[in-house]
Amino acid sequence: MTFEQEIKRRRTFGIISHPDAGKTTLTEKLLLFGGAIQEAGAVKSNKIKKSATSDFMEIERQRGISVATSVLAFIYKDKKINILDTPGHKDFAEDTFRTLTAVDSVIVVIDVAKGVEEQTEKLVEVCRMRNIPMIVFINKLDREGKDAFDLLDEVEQKLGLSVTPLSFPIGMGYDFKGIYNIYEKNINLFSGNSKQNIEETIAFDDVSSSELEKIIGEDAADSLRENLELVDGVYPPFEKEAYLSGDLQPVFFGSALNNFGVRELLDCFIEIAPDPRAKKAEERLVEPNETDFSGFVFKIHANMDPKHRDRLAFVKIVSGKFERNKPYLHVRHDKKLKFSSPNAFFAEKKEIVDTSFPGDIVGLHDTGNFKIGDTLTSGEKLQYRGIPSFSPEHFRYINNADPMKAKQLNKGIDQLMDEGVAQLFTLELNGRKVIGTVGALQYEVIQYRLEHEYGAKCTYENLPVHKACWVEPEADNEEFSEFNRVKQKYLARDKSGQLVFLSDSAFSLQMTQQKYPSVKLRFTSEKDT
Ligand code: G4P
Repeated sequence: MTFEQEIKRRRTFGIISHPDAGKTTLTEKLLLFGGAIQEAGAVKSNKIKKSATSDFMEIERQRGISVATSVLAFIYKDKKINILDTPGHKDFAEDTFRTLTAVDSVIVVIDVAKGVEEQTEKLVEVCRMRNIPMIVFINKLDREGKDAFDLLDEVEQKLGLSVTPLSFPIGMGYDFKGIYNIYEKNINLFSGNSKQNIEETIAFDDVSSSELEKIIGEDAADSLRENLELVDGVYPPFEKEAYLSGDLQPVFFGSALNNFGVRELLDCFIEIAPDPRAKKAEERLVEPNETDFSGFVFKIHANMDPKHRDRLAFVKIVSGKFERNKPYLHVRHDKKLKFSSPNAFFAEKKEIVDTSFPGDIVGLHDTGNFKIGDTLTSGEKLQYRGIPSFSPEHFRYINNADPMKAKQLNKGIDQLMDEGVAQLFTLELNGRKVIGTVGALQYEVIQYRLEHEYGAKCTYENLPVHKACWVEPEADNEEFSEFNRVKQKYLARDKSGQLVFLSDSAFSLQMTQQKYPSVKLRFTSEKDT
């Protein structure tokens, strides 16, 4: 296969949802279709359950699972599919945001009964900001849920999307008979009452034909015709270009658990979803078919065994071929590195690979060289953009609880922050260290890992911060000097040295913005998210 063909056949995407909407189940069904696994239940859920808050062994175990399920790859109809796992637990949302910088498209799973939930809103917003092509899958149609049109409205309003259904349910819950596939123009029927499998797929392009009654009964036929008419009148026709530019989101209905509507989704997905897209670096736009290799680190996973402190850095290949044992430039350190055992990922296992292509993810063993956002190239000095830090939601001072272990503590904090476990802010006024996280769970993980992996002990102290805002630019003018002087107590530096304003309330943030209009405050660490 030529280099161009290898690129064109890759589909790298993420599945996002609120916990429990069915992401794990759908992933598993996709793997079954790809023949990558033989039975249901093979993919372990990567969910950190609430009960795990104080059960560290459980967290460790689940961290192990998440390495295995970080990337699930399989071949389907000659397409190489890479599914990047995104943790559903909201305390790990930052991890998900970063993974979204490495996907070329996403599938959004929504529970038909619960509709659009909080976590889905946040994740979709990030995808919208980046114009990532999205397909929506409305799941659990075997249960009673919201009316299909009400749900489509909800998706448009709450998620700010412009949708067009490519399939439509025939009934729902107890009366769920099957699905009309608008995209392929056929009817998929459930078998009998079991709702376990598709009994048959009937090509059916003219729903006005009286044959429809014979297949699904009079009432269902009437209501399907009515619904399809409404779909036709209300929603724009599907256009691939609009989907690819992030302006139109096709919607599918189904039931992942019953394997219903999943094949339609997958078949349409491989046809319309984008192959690896060009990516912006600070310097220029990089096309996947350039011969020189380049890629970036979007995730770092620590070794589960504290005796071997090596880590696995997940690199998304943006351009060129990645080859084992070839020296590549680590741009931030300006030094060449060679990788003798890069991992590629298949279904639930990983193995050493000689060559990988754009769209693929390679796992590189690392002894502390990498941090999230690092770029690796054949030699060109490129820095990929778009791995932002979002304002954390929780802030605590971190104190050293064992004065003899200050060095270990600092090293531990440093490395955990490089992994992206949390964010570190150092106060301008007194140099005290503040850890910011998305969820409270991270504090326990950090404390546990500092102790077990670095032999250091820490304590925390609450800090009432409402939001961290990145200050830009650090201007040389009077207003900025005054802001700097008056707000000094609230100013800190993040790990890359950027100035951050830690506002203590929404009100004070608003007042600050009014008082110093020329000082721009941003809620992410990077402009181009
Ligand atoms: P998540 O990864 O998005 O968090 O969701 P997951 O797939 O784990 O699914 C959450 C629950 O919803 C699971 O039930 C799963 O079996 C169920 N589910 C998924 N798809 C469907 C569907 O199409 N119809 C119905 N009725 N249920 C579905 P659970 O009881 O929490 O877990 P389990 O014991 O079944 O694994």
